[in-house]
Amino acid sequence: MTEQSPALDNLLTESRTFPPSEAFSAQANATADFYAEADADREAFWAKQAERLHWDTKWSQVLDWTNAPVAKWFVGGKLNVAYNCVDRHVVDGHGDQVAIHWVGEPGDNRDITYAQLKDEVSRAANAFESLGLSAGDRVAIQMPMVPEAIFAMLACARIGVLHSVVFGGFSPTALRSRVDDQAARIVITTDGQYRRGKAAPMKANVDEALEGAESVEKVIVVRRTGDEVPITEGRDLWWHELVDGQSAEHTPQAFDSEHPLFILYTSGTTGKPKGILHTSGGYLTQAAYTHHNVFDHKAGEDVYWCTADIGWITGHTYIVYGPLANRTTQVVYEGTPNTPHEGRHWEIVQQHKVSIYYTAPTLIRTFMKWGNEIPEKYDLSSLRVLGSVGEPINPEAWIWYRENVGANSAPIVDTWWQTETGGIMISPLPGVTSTKPGSAQKALPGISAKVVDDQGVEVGKGGGGYLVLDKPWPGMLRGIWGDEERFRDTYWSRFRDQGYYFAGDGAKYDADGDIWLLGRVDDVMNVSGHRISTTEVESALVSHPTVAEAAVVGATDPTTGQGIVAFVILRGNAVDGGEQAVQELRNHVAKEIGPIAKPRQILVVQELPKTRSGKIMRRLLRDVAENRQVGDVTTLADSSVMDLISSGLKSGK
Ligand code: WTA
Repeated sequence: MTEQSPALDNLLTESRTFPPSEAFSAQANATADFYAEADADREAFWAKQAERLHWDTKWSQVLDWTNAPVAKWFVGGKLNVAYNCVDRHVVDGHGDQVAIHWVGEPGDNRDITYAQLKDEVSRAANAFESLGLSAGDRVAIQMPMVPEAIFAMLACARIGVLHSVVFGGFSPTALRSRVDDQAARIVITTDGQYRRGKAAPMKANVDEALEGAESVEKVIVVRRTGDEVPITEGRDLWWHELVDGQSAEHTPQAFDSEHPLFILYTSGTTGKPKGILHTSGGYLTQAAYTHHNVFDHKAGEDVYWCTADIGWITGHTYIVYGPLANRTTQVVYEGTPNTPHEGRHWEIVQQHKVSIYYTAPTLIRTFMKWGNEIPEKYDLSSLRVLGSVGEPINPEAWIWYRENVGANSAPIVDTWWQTETGGIMISPLPGVTSTKPGSAQKALPGISAKVVDDQGVEVGKGGGGYLVLDKPWPGMLRGIWGDEERFRDTYWSRFRDQGYYFAGDGAKYDADGDIWLLGRVDDVMNVSGHRISTTEVESALVSHPTVAEAAVVGATDPTTGQGIVAFVILRGNAVDGGEQAVQELRNHVAKEIGPIAKPRQILVVQELPKTRSGKIMRRLLRDVAENRQVGDVTTLADSSVMDLISSGLKSGK
């Protein structure tokens, strides 16, 4: 079934386990009986988790699944998400607690207390309302990791406006398609951003994207780098001019539990990104519950740091909503991990006494490459829980993380989830689970996941197959913006008879019944934890005038998990497939999608391997890209194609 990558093979022979220390277990938020409690009555369990939030009106029903696959959670309940993440903590007497230790890349700092956060969010909410925004409208945000990005998200939530954050590295074309898809009325950005010690433009990107964009009325610009930017009269407004003079008083209105909170675009198997829709009450419940238990977070004591960017779901759920709902003190860092030196993260951990650190395997492998002596130079003794997300973590990286960052004692939580799931689904519970390097292990209490075969039948211990989620969960997506059919097709048609959500991942049970994730089984690549579809990159390539046809595969990469390898056939009159042409194509993809989608390698070929029905056989191309013996070619329309490709590559043609 799944086309397993060789790098994952060692996952299946890993047998070490690491039980939690007694001391950790004794103080842990989560206990082993959570599983039984949730199994006994799932809805009662989730209702209890929802009590963690402030509801203006209590729900009358926990779950309404009659209109499946569109769930309603906490039916009839009303709440304000921003109130829950901000005001509530001030009302409870914690206004002076630092919410955000913001660390700018060039070395500037800003500590923001919950009281200050409340003022900032209220001012921004007043400003947005002064522009005529009201509940249900959409605002697109393309910003670096500056505090205003978080203020803007929370201000939207406060007034019931949907935000749609677009990762700062996405191209004008990518931003524009997202703005158009949701008909955003306002776009928020910055003049520029700091990247690897230099100021890079941001507003220019937005200007290019918005040329002729009809839905957009205003562009709000936060001053960050101070670089001069062109201002379009009548459309562009400076954040400080618009927001700073507003009143810091703003009365939050309670919205229905199912009121939409945000849209976040993610790659699917077709070229067009999907606008994943999340709503309020269920999403926030799962965000807060998982953050509290998976990271063992203690409000007012821990200092938490999630290194994701707010442009991804991890930034939404585990920088903004979950942590702030739980009154977390957290570090938010603007820049890259090696600016100005490779110890930057550890320096920040030491300075702020970070106790919970959540990052991605690709970064852990990068740290390994930089060398043990770098973390060794810093005092990391404050760290007590370590997290991983974004892709399967290989046992070597897991062990390195444990030894060099976690002093051989901090539990590691390998958290499996997706943009669509809204929050963590499969993960060890620190203090409860004996962890295994490379395995996300168990669905959390209240969550149900299974590994099934082609027919949707659960496989036994030691068996492999497809990962499905067989019961609705509070943070689940409520749809794809503007495309209900695609929502049903993408997630619910593969195992329609059983009513299972198909995650798109391959997985396996070990002898203990623990789950090991094996990577995507569809045409979605995972590059440094970022989802990019093969079709998206192929479309970008064929939009270049010299390219006739393109096929893209994700090939195993020691640092980024997968690297993008493209095979292109050039048009007849563009015979030059030399270095320069390849460079131009790589840049073209970066321009069309964003630098994260730049192929690691582009190979010019004469033919592509296709089945008789014309489907490109990526499996064979992956063999070539990973320098492996090419697999079974019997289903190819022309079985000599692979020889042609291999010999062409050898001779440099
Ligand atoms: C992969 C990121 C293995 C998986 C939160 C999933 C993982 C996709 C893990 C979702 C993990 C994420 N172990 N694989 N711990 N975490 N994935 O939407 O393939 O950006 O389907 O959400 O990342 O990526 P997304």
